[in-house]
Amino acid sequence: MGRPARFLGPSPEPIAPVSYTDRLAMTQSQDILMHALIPSARNRPSEDPIFAIHGAALARAAKGEDVIDASLGTLMDEDGGLSVMPTVIRALAQVNPAKAAAYAPIAGERGFNQAVVQEVFGPAGLAQDSLCVATAGGTGALHHAVVNFLERGESLLTTDYYWGPYSTIADQAGRGVQTFRMFNAERRFDLAALEQGLHELAGRQERILLILNFPCHNPTGYSLGGAEWRDVVQILRGVDRSKPMAVVLDLAYAKFGAPGTDAWVHHIADLAQDIPILAAWSASKSFAQYGARIGGLVVAHGDAEERTRIGNALSYTCRGTWSNCNHLGMLAITELLSHPELRASVDRDRDALLSMLGERVEIFNREAVQHGLHYPRYEGGFFVTIFTSDPIQTAQRCQADGVFVVPIRGAVRVALCATPKAQVARLVASLASGVQGLQGAIQ
Ligand SMILES: Cc1ncc(COP(=O)(O)O)c(C=O)c1O
Repeated sequence: MGRPARFLGPSPEPIAPVSYTDRLAMTQSQDILMHALIPSARNRPSEDPIFAIHGAALARAAKGEDVIDASLGTLMDEDGGLSVMPTVIRALAQVNPAKAAAYAPIAGERGFNQAVVQEVFGPAGLAQDSLCVATAGGTGALHHAVVNFLERGESLLTTDYYWGPYSTIADQAGRGVQTFRMFNAERRFDLAALEQGLHELAGRQERILLILNFPCHNPTGYSLGGAEWRDVVQILRGVDRSKPMAVVLDLAYAKFGAPGTDAWVHHIADLAQDIPILAAWSASKSFAQYGARIGGLVVAHGDAEERTRIGNALSYTCRGTWSNCNHLGMLAITELLSHPELRASVDRDRDALLSMLGERVEIFNREAVQHGLHYPRYEGGFFVTIFTSDPIQTAQRCQADGVFVVPIRGAVRVALCATPKAQVARLVASLASGVQGLQGAIQ
């Protein structure tokens, strides 16, 4: 490996909390006089581990080596360039510059918020019971959910494979992360573990915030099927009602799921009468505008008064976090979501990207089955994970072949979104030799 992989899993070791008395003692020590940074901020890692692996791939490519960089979660075209949607570029260029230069409203443009509500909850007839605030990408939406639906010291609940920044967001805000086992022995979603996780957390803290990243979970690529959604909803209905609960659907990759995966909203719709259903919506992947930082936290809830309180709380958090978001992007995305012609055109752009990704997924599945790789059901989305008992060794062996994947706990994450079709067979062959002699553990 060109550079040691420091990323050992989606759940990095939390930095040990420092008590008030310890802090006081440190303030009085000589040591603190030399450091203005608070103790918990002093040993932050300097580099995001995935970007470090990507950097190592770029360095090897710069030396003329033919590398496969399956590390980053951005959709690349077959020539290795960033995939963009031409209609989105046109819409950005057509925004009135004077409007774009002005501040956006704190909670987002009204038209934008309505369009995102319609996009997310419209298909289930929930739009009139929903609100949205504009956020800096899906990351901002997740942040707002964590700081408004959990008290300090409480933990969010999610699957044991999860996007690393959930921990960063929670840690930074003085909240924690509690996980439940994602896969059972059949490599299917572990419903019993979800139920137990909810039950245990309800016994330990005053409220529950569950984050589910479906369709197209990062890092595993897994999407829940219809029967799994029905079971999840039943489990959620069974949770002790004396503890308030909110559920977040992280929709970062939802537009890239296999046909039918968007049916989640119909399964979950009824729940919104009793439980706030939050959706962390993002234009980063769905409009291939990662840098525009456009997103929204959409909340469906049957109680109008509670909805107003939630809207006010989220708006307050916008003001106290970033004030307001990128106006240019918000205006362009509003047009793309609400004008039928533009919408049809951008859908065609996305469909082209979907079929490009779909071809890669198909080749991957064919090759991976032939090589006997162990991985969960994978029908679409940017990533898949290959289970291995020694992720570091697997990633190192792959790097020796010029193939860059991300080691996480119990697996390596493979970004098919960044791997051209012609390279998928080589990628799978490298993964197969990377796991040879090692056990393909479930987790
Ligand atoms: C699972 C997951 N959720 C949310 C996000 C948020 O992305 P953004 O803030 O760019 O919308 C990402 C981005 O990589 C992600 O992988």
